[in-house]
Amino acid sequence: MIETARLILRQWQASDLEPFAELNADPDVMRYFPAPLSREESDNLANRFKNIIEANKGWGFWAVELKTTGEFVGTVGLLHQAERFAFSPCTEIGWRLAKNFWHQGIALEAATCALNFAFNQLYLDEIVAFTAVQNTPSEGLMKRLGMVKQPSFMHPALAVSHVLAKHRLYKITRTGWLEKSI
Ligand SMILES: CC(C)(COP(=O)(O)OP(=O)(O)OC[C@H]1O[C@@H](n2cnc3c(N)ncnc32)[C@H](O)[C@@H]1OP(=O)(O)O)[C@@H](O)C(=O)NCCC(=O)NCCS
Repeated sequence: MIETARLILRQWQASDLEPFAELNADPDVMRYFPAPLSREESDNLANRFKNIIEANKGWGFWAVELKTTGEFVGTVGLLHQAERFAFSPCTEIGWRLAKNFWHQGIALEAATCALNFAFNQLYLDEIVAFTAVQNTPSEGLMKRLGMVKQPSFMHPALAVSHVLAKHRLYKITRTGWLEKSI
């Protein structure tokens, strides 16, 4: 369990499944993904994240909880990608929050915590982030984190002709992050 000023980043629990399914079924949240998720797909994803955190002994895509109310906010975290992309092996940072929690700096707070964890606990050299070129809110967060734009790429899971296939790629090195944090 990791704490920030407003948030707890923690292992998944059964009570997260319903609010996670709600946000995964929300067309606004899922606007830049191929499709919203069914309850079963959402539960499978939460279980996958839970198993990865367990296997990694504490890190992955955490469940994010608001300290003041205990509400489930969404997920923010880190995922190792051994071979999926041309730039693999890599560790990506990602985020998906319920709409109620947008525009408050909550994603930035959780992502800052995740990058601190990646560089100060895991001693990784570099973290990547990527999103469909249309997803300017997500790209904005990458910029606010001080990540550096790289050449775009076509997501291998989508047909080249798919409207969401073209992705922005950003990176930040440990040196870059530590310099920014000073
Ligand atoms: C991508 C996503 C996480 C970005 O969330 P966000 O709330 O815009 O990002 P931040 O946490 O950085 O918040 C920035 C906003 O909070 C405001 N803010 C308020 N209080 C703040 C504070 N204390 N600190 C920083 N910013 C604050 C900023 O002014 C900014 O406002 P704006 O959005 O009106 O310009 C969110 O849009 C999302 O979950 N989208 C759906 C899922 C998705 O697409 N995920 C990415 C797939 S790759």
